[in-house]
Amino acid sequence: MADVLRAESLSKRFGTHTALNSLNLSVASGEIVCMLGANGAGKTTTINLFLGFLEPSDGKALIDGTHVQSDTTAARKLLGYVPEQVALYPSLTGLENLEYFMRLSGAANINETHLRSLLDKVGLDQAAATRPVQDYSKGMRQKVGLAIALGKNATALLLDEPLSGLDPKAANEFCSLLRVLANEGKAVLMATHDLFRAREISDKIVIMKSGRMVAALDSAALDNATLEKIYLQHMHDPDTLLEAAS
Ligand SMILES: Nc1ncnc2c1ncn2[C@@H]1O[C@H](COP(=O)(O)OP(=O)(O)OP(=O)(O)O)[C@@H](O)[C@H]1O
Ligand SMILES: [Mg+2]
Repeated sequence: MADVLRAESLSKRFGTHTALNSLNLSVASGEIVCMLGANGAGKTTTINLFLGFLEPSDGKALIDGTHVQSDTTAARKLLGYVPEQVALYPSLTGLENLEYFMRLSGAANINETHLRSLLDKVGLDQAAATRPVQDYSKGMRQKVGLAIALGKNATALLLDEPLSGLDPKAANEFCSLLRVLANEGKAVLMATHDLFRAREISDKIVIMKSGRMVAALDSAALDNATLEKIYLQHMHDPDTLLEAAS
């Protein structure tokens, strides 16, 4: 499988603080990789480097072979991004928000049938689609955010804690949808604090600590208790070494 997302010795320093320390990571088409790690571990920094929101201090981020920092516009076209808080226009409906953001991203094929099919795919209620977003729950806003990302027909999806604040059923539905999208060929990189859902949904789990990747684990080989044990060991150990980098 070809790597869609690729970080090569990717590093970011803010002044004297190293937020990301020589990350090597790849996500292939059809693959879901979850990033775990304590607050401040470098997860959002990684995502922001892939998005070209930040310039790396060293190394590079590649999207389907496109170097993000030298060709940011081309790289961003390949990316769908779902932040923790999806920013939508409150007075516009879900359908209108989707149309607006798809126009903004230069997407082709913006007719109502297609827009509705995208909202349908992410599981937004048809009736809700024509209600103002200000009345939406968090999960409904996340679904619109995902529909916007899909509307771009992105090759890769970057998700920064998209599950936080979702109830278990909504989180479960959201994760099932990510698997459908991966099966359609998207490469998915998600930062989350939800260990067990990460294990359930992903192919690979990476654990970040103080800007370093301290573990890369095959999800299928883990059960919940083992994952929690490995995670906590890394969090407690002041001198964790790279366990495996693949
Ligand atoms: N713009 C910035 N200026 C200075 N320091 C920053 C900036 N952005 C992030 N940092 C620092 O970089 C480190 C990594 O932050 P990052 O946001 O990547 O963590 P995270 O793993 O996403 O954490 P969380 O789980 O809380 O979202 C932190 O120490 C943070 O304070
Ligand atoms: Mg973060």
